[in-house]
Amino acid sequence: MQKTILDLVIEKKAAADKAIEFIESGMIVGLGTGSTVKFFIESLAEKIRDGLIIKTVSTSNATGALSKSLGIEVVELNAVEKIDVTIDGADEVDSQLNGIKGGGGALLYEKIVSSASQKNIWIIDSSKFVKQLGNFPLPVEVVPFGSNHTFTKLVQLGYSPKFRMEDNKNFISDGGHNIIDLKLNKIVYPLKINNELQLIPGVVETGLFLNICDIVIIGRGKECDVIESERLKTD
Ligand code: 5RP
Repeated sequence: MQKTILDLVIEKKAAADKAIEFIESGMIVGLGTGSTVKFFIESLAEKIRDGLIIKTVSTSNATGALSKSLGIEVVELNAVEKIDVTIDGADEVDSQLNGIKGGGGALLYEKIVSSASQKNIWIIDSSKFVKQLGNFPLPVEVVPFGSNHTFTKLVQLGYSPKFRMEDNKNFISDGGHNIIDLKLNKIVYPLKINNELQLIPGVVETGLFLNICDIVIIGRGKECDVIESERLKTD
């Protein structure tokens, strides 16, 4: 049976609550962006009120503002040497734990924070765990300078690009960039696509997050599946 939006919200909350189990006092915690992470931040704030002591690094202005409003300490990424664990959402995740992120427009900061993190945990509802990536449009962050030309390059390479819009203007990320979404339908060779996109002048980052996620927590009803990456198992 098709899950309703409410079912998926319940699953997001279940995954977010499960992720709390991975947080210990003394940790520096990276905070992702989006509606699933919002549940995690709310649960984290409760734990902090109960005595948990942590510092956080935010992946977006929205996450930073929400965290501070709930009494969570937020520090700059440059103020810490490393992040112990980052909890983030995702738009699609496959069984290799590769994913597409950036639906919320925070992909660049999310990727920088993930690469400074010793462990990356993603929290998703069950609809986002897919056999093959690509149904969700792949976000590509580009500098506004010459972005029409970057767009044309994408067309020439055979992609179907679309500028992300907000209030009838090009969407602007926290880093001051635009986002172009690519409708791919299926991504057979994610690394090849990622490399091709990264080579286009003007492209800052792609929403392909490959070999980054260590653990995915998938909400299923009120329960969760916790899947570890093969990489983590062989470490
Ligand atoms: C933001 C992201 C989000 O993690 C992703 O879009 C999932 O969001 P949500 O939890 O709201 O479904 O990558 O850039």
